[in-house]
Amino acid sequence: MSFKIYVPRDSAAVALGADEVAAALLAQAQQRGLEMDLVRNSSRGLFWLEPLVEVQTPAGRVAYGPVTAEDVTGLLDAQFHTGADHRLKQGLVDEIPYLKQQERLTFARMGVTDPLSLADYEAHAGFAGLRRALTLDASVVVQQVLDSGLRGRGGAAFPAGIKWKTVAAAQAAQKYVVCNADEGDSGTYSDRMTLEGDPFMLIEGMTIAAIATGATQGYVYIRSEYPHAVATMREAIDKATAAGFLGADILQSGKTFHLEVRKAAGAYVCGEETAMLESMEGKRGVVRAKPPIPALQGLFGQPTVINNVITLASVPIILARGADFYKHYGVGRSHGTLPFQLTGNVKRGGLIEKAFGVTLRQLMFDFGGGSASGRPIKAVQVGGPLGAYVPECYWDLPLDYEAYAAVGITVGHGGIVVHDDTADLSRLARYAMEFCAIESCGKCTPCRIGSTRGVEVMDRLKNGDHQAEVLLRDLCDTMLHGSLCALGGMTSNPVLSALNYYPQDFGLAASVAKVV
Ligand SMILES: Cc1cc2nc3c(=O)[nH]c(=O)nc-3n(C[C@H](O)[C@H](O)[C@H](O)COP(=O)(O)O)c2cc1C
Ligand code: SF4
Repeated sequence: MSFKIYVPRDSAAVALGADEVAAALLAQAQQRGLEMDLVRNSSRGLFWLEPLVEVQTPAGRVAYGPVTAEDVTGLLDAQFHTGADHRLKQGLVDEIPYLKQQERLTFARMGVTDPLSLADYEAHAGFAGLRRALTLDASVVVQQVLDSGLRGRGGAAFPAGIKWKTVAAAQAAQKYVVCNADEGDSGTYSDRMTLEGDPFMLIEGMTIAAIATGATQGYVYIRSEYPHAVATMREAIDKATAAGFLGADILQSGKTFHLEVRKAAGAYVCGEETAMLESMEGKRGVVRAKPPIPALQGLFGQPTVINNVITLASVPIILARGADFYKHYGVGRSHGTLPFQLTGNVKRGGLIEKAFGVTLRQLMFDFGGGSASGRPIKAVQVGGPLGAYVPECYWDLPLDYEAYAAVGITVGHGGIVVHDDTADLSRLARYAMEFCAIESCGKCTPCRIGSTRGVEVMDRLKNGDHQAEVLLRDLCDTMLHGSLCALGGMTSNPVLSALNYYPQDFGLAASVAKVV
């Protein structure tokens, strides 16, 4: 009798010892004469349980975790490969509340399939969106994305369909699709999980974007700190090309789309779309002034679709299930789902895909189980290093781009970093300003000079010079309104939110603080 066992292979699980667990399982199975079919799936995003090993049983997949190589003997002695009891048993994986209470659309296959098996991908609804797109007129494909209400998941939340429409309407001999996989925001990993855990979904989304806009060449610009993602994506592209899903005549449709991986330069600002284009053209990653917008003059001056990984990964299901299906999820003008990434001082960190409208409190407590330290949560930074520190008064606000913007919070890429009451917000805010000074591309004065002066002013404030508060607010205002891109412009978010909501950390009286 053969046993089917799943051990994740993505970098999150490997960092926690998944390769050693897989090796121990194979060695012990051989010793014991067990026939074992070991599948290297990807992490489901329940990180506190990684490496999460799953065994196939007639009732479904049963999970055990977190498993170490040393646990393997005991697990096999206990007959875990048949779903038997063991102290690490978590029950049926689909019934684990953290997973069961999610609304997984883009992450539906995550952890379920072998990321590099085309057969597995197709068996789980893969390429249904592409096959449908190939039967439609390009303008109908664009309209589907427009009607779905899908907005860019990289940060600015611009409607994807409008961007695609602009590229589709542009006249040019060559157009491009570029996937921004630079993922530099603190506490974010949903792009990495997609690249490593479901690469064909991204390939499918990019191919649909190409068909819709008339692009024939695409690039995935992947953060250089993601070697596993680069390798997985390259292998997936080779497999998809060999099977006819990419290349000169996609599924005998006469449509062409070639795809390549580009390793990123290793700077935060290279995630900014125009700096990314400069970097891809072999130059230093410096931000370009807009206009012209990349949709009209992007890579090598040609019309270019630039979208985030999750934006493009959302497209296959929109085409497969229809715009209305997708639009049905969410609230207000925030349609669909977002894979929230819960990190920092939290008990159960991990990936939570939910429709817009969920609250921070639900994410941090219902899913996250509160702080890992057991101390009260004091602040939570949402939206990366340029996101605000959110105080408790906003933890029940439904997550929605507009509702958040109205109170000065950015949803960004969905990164949520939790801090308990030992956090010193003045130090965190200083770090944000210093981050801007280090990462500035240097093109414009408010960011290049302002961020360095900002750090100095914050030190004066911390050392008891309360007059420096006025100067700091003035400087933030200049950076906000005078910077060329959002790196300088958004640094005021963490700095002012810390100053406004946690004045005592700066040695200021609460009554002195002004709330934006
Ligand atoms: C400093 C800075 C860094 C950024 N980093 C990223 C990034 O790593 N990934 C990303 O998708 N977008 C990033 N963006 C946003 C991109 O400029 C761009 O808006 C996005 O890639 C467009 O794709 P979308 O419409 O699908 O979100 C960054 C923006 C700025 C200002
Ligand atoms: S705000 Fe900073 S990163 Fe952006 S263009 Fe200006 S100097 Fe460059």
